[in-house]
Amino acid sequence: MSTGYPDLDGLLPRLEAIPALAAEALEAEEIAVLGRKAGALTAALKWVATLPIEERKRYGAAVNQLKARFEAAFGARRASLDTERERRERAGIDLTMPGRHRWVGAEHPVTRVVDDIIEIFRGIGFTVAVGPEVETEWYNFLALNFPADHPAMDMHDTLYLDAPPAEGEPSGRLLLRTHTSPVQIRTLLASPPPVRVVIPGMVYRNDAFDASHSPAFHQIEGLAVDEGISFVDLKATLTHFAQRFFSPSTRTRFRPSFFPFTEPSAEMDVECQLCHGSGCPACKGTGWMEILGCGMVHPAVLENCNLDSEKYTGWAFGMGPHRIAMLRYGIPDIRLLLEGDMRFLAQLAPGGQADRRAGGQ
Ligand code: PHE
Repeated sequence: MSTGYPDLDGLLPRLEAIPALAAEALEAEEIAVLGRKAGALTAALKWVATLPIEERKRYGAAVNQLKARFEAAFGARRASLDTERERRERAGIDLTMPGRHRWVGAEHPVTRVVDDIIEIFRGIGFTVAVGPEVETEWYNFLALNFPADHPAMDMHDTLYLDAPPAEGEPSGRLLLRTHTSPVQIRTLLASPPPVRVVIPGMVYRNDAFDASHSPAFHQIEGLAVDEGISFVDLKATLTHFAQRFFSPSTRTRFRPSFFPFTEPSAEMDVECQLCHGSGCPACKGTGWMEILGCGMVHPAVLENCNLDSEKYTGWAFGMGPHRIAMLRYGIPDIRLLLEGDMRFLAQLAPGGQADRRAGGQ
């Protein structure tokens, strides 16, 4: 034809050839047909603009239709080449290579003990309270009835902070709390009785790091304050706790003790979980293991919290979940619970050998 029209029909064999093109040829062909400068169809499109209106419609529609078919064919071929490449890459995987080890995380045994303890107290109406780890002398000692010059304040071997107390804070030097008992004060000041709370948290003492001591460890405090609370409530509740936590037949005993913030004060022992009372090296032959300190909240503590000690009474306890985890799992050295050694911890994870021995689910 001498019309000068670009030959659209002549492009059809090229359209049909697209599904067989390899990646590089496909790219070159796409440029040759649709390329903005020298593409064969682009030339036809440019030609359309020069035609009179009627011609332009007819011929323009044909060019556009062909362009759409080319675009679809290029797209489809590109997609199938991609899948082919992926399949080849996948085939390159060496199935004989060792797999990547995936760690399955588990709660730390001390976290589990803390949660179990909280759950038992939650079941009998206690809620959870928390307080700051940096405390003042007033909350940590004085409000808890430690006299300012009493050697008990050294007894705790406190870690004091160099930082001065905050502006307008009359309650003395800053320190790392040596026990969770200051949260008793914070709780009673914040909400009037009836109060029944357990208080988990870290505490700090200037202690050596050895088989039975650590300068940082967990405590769980308990506090119940209401009208008409007596030592009977303390004994019954803590014995209920021990029997839920260890086993229903676990026996407890209370020995007189001293804390400035409780009167009378006691230490609670549970029957040794290893020998069940007959005496073994773990309980130094006594058949008992000490798990917590407790007592009736001292009237001076209630008064320091602006409560009428004639009207209200209460009891409190403090225990160390590390000690209890050691008892539950038969762990001889507290450092094992603080060093994060996976070879050790994996044995205590749910389903691990030591967990099964301790009757874990
Ligand atoms: N705070 C005491 C300690 O750390 C434990 C305790 C708490 C004793 C509450 C009695 C009542 O040793």
